[in-house]
Amino acid sequence: MARIYGSERRVLVTGGAGFLGSHLIDRLLDKGCEVVCVDNLFTGAKRNLYHLSGHPRFEFIRHDVTFPLYLEVDEIYNLACPASPIHYQHDPVATTKTSVHGAINMLGLAKRLRCKILQASTSEVYGDPAVHPQTEDYWGNVNPIGPRSCYDEGKRCAETLFFDYHRQHGLEIKVARIFNTYGPRMHPADGRVVSNFIMQALRGEPITIYGEGQQTRSFCYVDDLVDGLMRLMDTGPEITGPINIGNPGEFTMRQLADQVLALTGSMSPIEHRPLPPDDPRQRQPDITLATRVLGWTPKVSLAEGLKSTIDYFAGAYAS
Ligand SMILES: NC(=O)c1ccc[n+]([C@@H]2O[C@H](COP(=O)([O-])OP(=O)(O)OC[C@H]3O[C@@H](n4cnc5c(N)ncnc54)[C@H](O)[C@@H]3O)[C@@H](O)[C@H]2O)c1
Repeated sequence: MARIYGSERRVLVTGGAGFLGSHLIDRLLDKGCEVVCVDNLFTGAKRNLYHLSGHPRFEFIRHDVTFPLYLEVDEIYNLACPASPIHYQHDPVATTKTSVHGAINMLGLAKRLRCKILQASTSEVYGDPAVHPQTEDYWGNVNPIGPRSCYDEGKRCAETLFFDYHRQHGLEIKVARIFNTYGPRMHPADGRVVSNFIMQALRGEPITIYGEGQQTRSFCYVDDLVDGLMRLMDTGPEITGPINIGNPGEFTMRQLADQVLALTGSMSPIEHRPLPPDDPRQRQPDITLATRVLGWTPKVSLAEGLKSTIDYFAGAYAS
């Protein structure tokens, strides 16, 4: 529907009160967009948006994406979904519903509005990968019945829905496969490794490493990630993805713990715990496609990103 007032692009961000969504909203507002944030505050927090209260181009709607939504917007970023294992395993049925029903509702909205829609998918669609690093054409190695399946399979089904809406209804879709991202506004108790290590180091508690700490992860700083998502949204209709967005720099958990200890100056000891089931041994994005199609590469080093994340946690939470 054509709008009568205002020429700014009006953008819907679902999950906008969460870690990634709130940074994305900041950047969209900086670019002059109008932003509507839809969130049920399951893992997100109003605190992440306080600085926007009274902003003339920002609107918050408390809503659960598993229910239909009728709005007028020009673009949709679909980020709503708990992202950390502790949170998505808390109510696994709700997690699958959020991914699947949420995708159906947001795709239905995009179809009605004939607008672009971007899905925040995940490297978890690759499961415990047999191919390393992971390219977008790898189909994955996912356990369909394990404790992580509500998230992994929910996100895989959401990707299926996006591509079926694209093929069947000609919808303009963008699918980003996001790899581990960190930065300020991460939930302090979400059990994700970066926030865990930082909080433990700041409190002088033992740093818990699962297994021997030789499993690797790649860590992308939130500003780089948001830049990648916005570049993907700005591509033409021929670019659908899936496109990996992440930082290919690979670190073992032990190396990460050592960096956090060095940057915080903490004397926390290291404590080893048993590996959880289905924990991937290795995860590293191949970002050749993102570099070629989006002209994107991550810019922020792990040391720089950790420093600003530590500053945030030290200011916001450390007791
Ligand atoms: N952070 C990462 O490393 C990472 C990696 C891969 C994919 N992703 C994806 O990016 C998106 C954002 O992740 P994040 O790290 O910001 O997580 P987050 O938990 O901080 O944010 C998710 C947001 O979605 C909201 N939400 C959850 N269920 C909802 C529902 N039914 N209706 C409305 N809102 C709902 C939460 O309240 C929260 O604000 C997620 O879809 C996640 O799967 C994140």
